[in-house]
Amino acid sequence: MTKGTITGVNGNLISVAFEGAVALNEIGYAKLGETRLMCEIVRIRGTVADMQVFEDTSGLGAGCEVEFTGELLSVELGPGLLKQVFDGLQNPLPGLAEQFGFFLQRGKTVAALPRGEKWAFTPVAKPGDRVFAGDTIGTVPEGVFTHRIMVPFGLKGRWTVKDVAPAGDYTVEEQVATVVDGTGAEMPVRLMQRWPVKIPISCFAERLRPEKTMVTQIRTIDTFFPVALGGTYCIPGPFGAGKTVLQQTTSRFAQVDVVIYAACGERAGEVVEMLREFPELSDPRTGKTLMDRTIIICNTSSMPVAAREASVYTAATLAAYYRQMGLDVLMLADSTSRWAQALREQSGRLEEIPGEEAFPAYLESVVASFYERAGRVRLRDGSTGSVTIGGAVSPAGGNFDEPVTQATIKVVGAFHGLSRARSDARRYPAIDPLDSWSKYKGVCDETLVAKARAVLRKGSDVGQMMKVVGEEGTSMDDFTLYLKGELIDMAYLQQNSFDETDAACGADRQRHVFGVLCGVLDAKMRFSTRDEARSFFHRLTQLFRDWNVAKWDTPEFAAGEKAVIDAVSSRQ
Ligand SMILES: Nc1ncnc2c1ncn2[C@@H]1O[C@H](COP(=O)(O)OP(=O)(O)O)[C@@H](O)[C@H]1O
Ligand SMILES: [Mg+2]
Repeated sequence: MTKGTITGVNGNLISVAFEGAVALNEIGYAKLGETRLMCEIVRIRGTVADMQVFEDTSGLGAGCEVEFTGELLSVELGPGLLKQVFDGLQNPLPGLAEQFGFFLQRGKTVAALPRGEKWAFTPVAKPGDRVFAGDTIGTVPEGVFTHRIMVPFGLKGRWTVKDVAPAGDYTVEEQVATVVDGTGAEMPVRLMQRWPVKIPISCFAERLRPEKTMVTQIRTIDTFFPVALGGTYCIPGPFGAGKTVLQQTTSRFAQVDVVIYAACGERAGEVVEMLREFPELSDPRTGKTLMDRTIIICNTSSMPVAAREASVYTAATLAAYYRQMGLDVLMLADSTSRWAQALREQSGRLEEIPGEEAFPAYLESVVASFYERAGRVRLRDGSTGSVTIGGAVSPAGGNFDEPVTQATIKVVGAFHGLSRARSDARRYPAIDPLDSWSKYKGVCDETLVAKARAVLRKGSDVGQMMKVVGEEGTSMDDFTLYLKGELIDMAYLQQNSFDETDAACGADRQRHVFGVLCGVLDAKMRFSTRDEARSFFHRLTQLFRDWNVAKWDTPEFAAGEKAVIDAVSSRQ
């Protein structure tokens, strides 16, 4: 193993003079007495490696020894990941919500996958089978899923199965198969494998276009600004506008198999609250707890920035692992701005030439390659899987005209901009219906959506004008248009994530309700005074809202619909 000696310390960055060979992103351990602090090479200059330390560096100084491992920062992949809460380096943080101190003791690491636990393995492959990296060797049940045990992702080319263990209980470290390549080289297959987080897992047959809607059951999203399975989207918004609540609602109701939630660099208090709430959320798909199909990667603003930088890659790697089992995975990052700040700090210490607002000049390419971790793929066995990535962005002061938001907008497929005006008015979700956009296909008819958007836009224009000239300064038609725009907002865009029924609106229901709403927008209604118009729309809004909290496909639902339709026809 290559060894080195620290020549300088600057915050969490150390310079290490080494002899021998090292590689970028290689992991090493700085020795401080008995304690070993993990660090990663971020730059090599001649025989000096600059390394970021994943822990508090106090006590480290010139002369301390560093051992290089020859390995890149890696995570463990295998059964037992679901339900866990990890830090950015995949150390499990059990019972975390109870304590406020997130830190493991410095220098301590804990295996991500429990070593003693046994899993019921069922072989799928047989001796003599031809296999490639990522192909299924056998399965084990994990919670609600069949977890595939796969040929290690790093193996190149074609391999032959030499032997497979019989059905039985095995720990993650036990060998369950052997594969050999054309030269006779043998490789063991275990329930667990390791994979470097900064390298995408790419052992699938082909990339597919993200053309299927990922139904979130949030009306504003699915109808107006949809997200596709395997697509990418961002949620920029000022502090308190509802990014975290929106992501939590999405993780609960989105029609996906697995959710990976990266809580990245937000304040400890907020993260603790999130961790407390998450296990209490019930899973509408199984009736059990949502945690059964969730993994949380958690990194607060008080944890070292280097681990924060790593945490989103850890999350993306876990997401791709489950995709490789033919599952639809949603990865949410909250917030990517804090992640970008970690990049900025690191770049500053490296004294790189800064770009805009002192972010590194390569910010855009780092953001782009992060979102490239998303995608829908066809696996070699014909099944499909997807990783969808949604990133919250928290620009200072809610100003979207800043480097992180701008770099993100360039690469994502949908933009859900949260507006301070909407959240102040408690119009939730605060996704701005005029500013937001999506390149994906939604659940409703596109022509109808375009019409409704036109009403929203014109209605908003009239509303702005009325602020100047007053209601009397607008024509009756314009005034009605304004009220129709408000109706779309109040009756359809706004959705109460704390109401049992309204919180989740399935695709069929959205199509149905949106159809009725569009009928109302088309209807020619006559009013003789503005007061009359206003009070009619007020009542209509209330009828829609009552309808929204009626359970789908019940007599109450039918009654709610009839009340809306009757009210409208009485005006025609
Ligand atoms: N959909 C919603 N329905 C009701 N209240 C909401 C909703 N979204 C946000 N809020 C309110 O706004 C507060 C801040 O939301 P949060 O998601 O924490 O904001 P952010 O993550 O953008 O800082 C929440 O604690 C809640 O009171
Ligand atoms: Mg938040």
